[in-house]
Amino acid sequence: MKQVTLTINGKSVKTSPRSTILIAARSAGFRIPTLCYHPRLASVGSCRVCVVEIQGRGNLAASCVTPVADGMVVRTDSERVVAARRLVVELLLAGGEHNCSLCAASGDCELQNLAYELGIEKLDFPVEAPGYPRDTSNAMIERDLNKCVLCGRCVRACNEVQVNEVIDIGYRGARAKIVTAFDRNYGDSDCVFCGECVSVCPTGALREKAARFKGRPWEFQKTRTTCVYCGTGCQLDVNVRDGRVVKVTSDFRHGPPNYGSLCAKGRFAYDFIHHPDRLTTPLIKEDDEFREATWDEAMDLVVLGLSAIRNQEGPDAIGVLASARCTNEENYLLQKFTRACLGTNNIDHCARL
Ligand code: FES
Repeated sequence: MKQVTLTINGKSVKTSPRSTILIAARSAGFRIPTLCYHPRLASVGSCRVCVVEIQGRGNLAASCVTPVADGMVVRTDSERVVAARRLVVELLLAGGEHNCSLCAASGDCELQNLAYELGIEKLDFPVEAPGYPRDTSNAMIERDLNKCVLCGRCVRACNEVQVNEVIDIGYRGARAKIVTAFDRNYGDSDCVFCGECVSVCPTGALREKAARFKGRPWEFQKTRTTCVYCGTGCQLDVNVRDGRVVKVTSDFRHGPPNYGSLCAKGRFAYDFIHHPDRLTTPLIKEDDEFREATWDEAMDLVVLGLSAIRNQEGPDAIGVLASARCTNEENYLLQKFTRACLGTNNIDHCARL
């Protein structure tokens, strides 16, 4: 496809004619801040944080929705542009309750980062937070609309990515807010609690309820792992503080198969990890009673049992069932063990049962 050439901050940039100014500028190494834009979602150009100046045009243009054109001359950091961004961010801060010191998103908040980047130390406007009650009606997601900047990312994530269509922007003007059907709380709505909305929220408006006051984002150690709930193999990050799992997140940059999306179980059902009923040592049954055993004892018993069956009845007397909860690598090893060590092809997988 023929490329177009435009000038960004004095630098000649070649790009696809399908590109937006934002994409072209970022790929040329220029930073343009954004808020309502998210790479996984359709761009709507509603927040105006990403505005740029285009030579010959009177109005500043939202770069996330403005296509490039041959010969276009763009400035991403002029005085006028920075002043417009400051005004937008100041108004957003003044229209909500952004008490960063108590907010669970502090340190992981795009609005906070924007305020810092633009050097906004104090607001020129009186703060008029809408005073919505916090929605704590369910066990998974806590919603504080006083911190919502109406970027609409949660709505698009719910509608475009998960196609659940549970939330939308309701009312008009200063009363506009994110609503479920009939403006019910989350707990009484049709929400399935996949948490896609939480994963794209740029502020503290949507947060994992169980993680509240369990630690700051910079205190978590993130470990990438594979979800064990089904065979899809979604990539997730286990957020750990002081040896305990505080929450589960997933970054869209992880790539396939889930691109940051998770189901309700993958994102929220992790309390079994520290549940007191969870087996943490092998148990061996003796005289109808289970007793705790070491792994060496348990493995010796398994080897003895399998060897006895194989020697007396032949290897085909043994059958092995693999699990969708294991990774590909673990299932590969199990079939290898079954065929090469036990000597049978009797191996199957629970997903076929
Ligand atoms: Fe472009 Fe919001 S990021 S208008």
